[in-house]
Amino acid sequence: MSKQIIRPARTISGSLEVPGDKSISHRYAMLAALAEGSSEINHYSAAADCRSTLDCFSSMGVKIDIQGDRVRIAGAGLAGLRKPRRTLDAGNSGTTMRMLAGILAGQEFPSTLDGDSSLRRRPMRRVMDPLKQMGARIQAREGGFAPLKIEGTRLSPIDYALPVPSAQVKSATLLAGMFADGVTSVTEPVRTRDHTELALAEFGARLEQEGRTIRIHGRPRLKGRTLAIPGDLSSAVFFLAATMILPDSHLVIHNVGLNPTRSSILDVLGSMGAPVSLVSIRSEHGELVGDVSVHHEPLKGGTIEGDAIAQLIDELPAIAVLAPYTEQGIEIRNAAELRIKESDRIAVLAENLRRMGAQVDELPDGLRVAGRSAGRLRGAEIEPHGDHRMAMAFAVAALGAEGETVIRDAECAGVSYPEFFTTLERLVER
Ligand code: S3P
Repeated sequence: MSKQIIRPARTISGSLEVPGDKSISHRYAMLAALAEGSSEINHYSAAADCRSTLDCFSSMGVKIDIQGDRVRIAGAGLAGLRKPRRTLDAGNSGTTMRMLAGILAGQEFPSTLDGDSSLRRRPMRRVMDPLKQMGARIQAREGGFAPLKIEGTRLSPIDYALPVPSAQVKSATLLAGMFADGVTSVTEPVRTRDHTELALAEFGARLEQEGRTIRIHGRPRLKGRTLAIPGDLSSAVFFLAATMILPDSHLVIHNVGLNPTRSSILDVLGSMGAPVSLVSIRSEHGELVGDVSVHHEPLKGGTIEGDAIAQLIDELPAIAVLAPYTEQGIEIRNAAELRIKESDRIAVLAENLRRMGAQVDELPDGLRVAGRSAGRLRGAEIEPHGDHRMAMAFAVAALGAEGETVIRDAECAGVSYPEFFTTLERLVER
């Protein structure tokens, strides 16, 4: 297990690009595999998670050629996947497992989907419920956990109201809807990331949106495309946080995804006093992309709660570690979903923030972290519990602390950002 030592830094400055968006990479890969004709996907995410998605489709006979961050996929067509010889391995990736379940439910062959020990602890019933209503036959381990054994059958369309805001469950249902005759609809309680809707439209599926309801027409003919993926804002956020921690810092992050269902993190940082500005905004394949420029200002802090949480869920770890550097501290509420991510992120944030000397109240649905008046953070030994976002969040927190920090098992950052520590070291000055 690799350790990473983070020494305090004086400032961070320069410009960077972050790896392609993880959520969009999964979706383009899945739709390219089901399309007719070949697709070329540029700036595909370097994340281990997105590699898991490609490997699953290779195991189902899809020809995939990977050259750096360019991926060419020879589409098999909607009915062209082949029965995998082995269990499909989603690794650490909840998005792979849940979205793929929607596709596998509509195949003519049986399959088994499994993942690592963290993924085996994450709830799958939320995706099994709508798929079963469509007629899918899925068996899970007691309690609704992976491995999932999926029979594959002819699906019927449903109208499904999501009980929890989850882009993965919405997406799995819409993908399954492609294998049903007729129109499948999904209604969300609050709006979640809409990459699946945008990608489906881009590949040629027929889709309608009315308020928070999305309808998909079954049996579309998807067409292979040439696409480029914007940088992942939820990876960029660690650098934004570092800029807010270290005085005299300024950064420009080029070609970042600014989809409005993902970019509320920028509004939250702005409302706390971060001078974030967006330049060169354009639309690529329905996704907004632009450059984000930011310089250091001391942050006020504040409370994040309610409907805003669903669109910020992956950025909350970076926000939480900023808290000790803010004037009033930060409170996060209505975020119980954080407990069922790659780790129990509420518990792991609280544990490691305390190791660094922060004052933290752990709450059932969030946490309250005191601001600057509670004293300066000190270097500590951090246990990320195998969770990539914990490793990166605490590396950033460590930059402003007193003394060295050791991040245990730091290679877990590769689940979303293999080059994270190298890029961070390149940009900081000591
Ligand atoms: C994702 C949806 C979110 C998010 C995850 C990626 C997606 O999960 O946390 O990192 O790509 O659809 P939920 O659907 O469980 O909220």
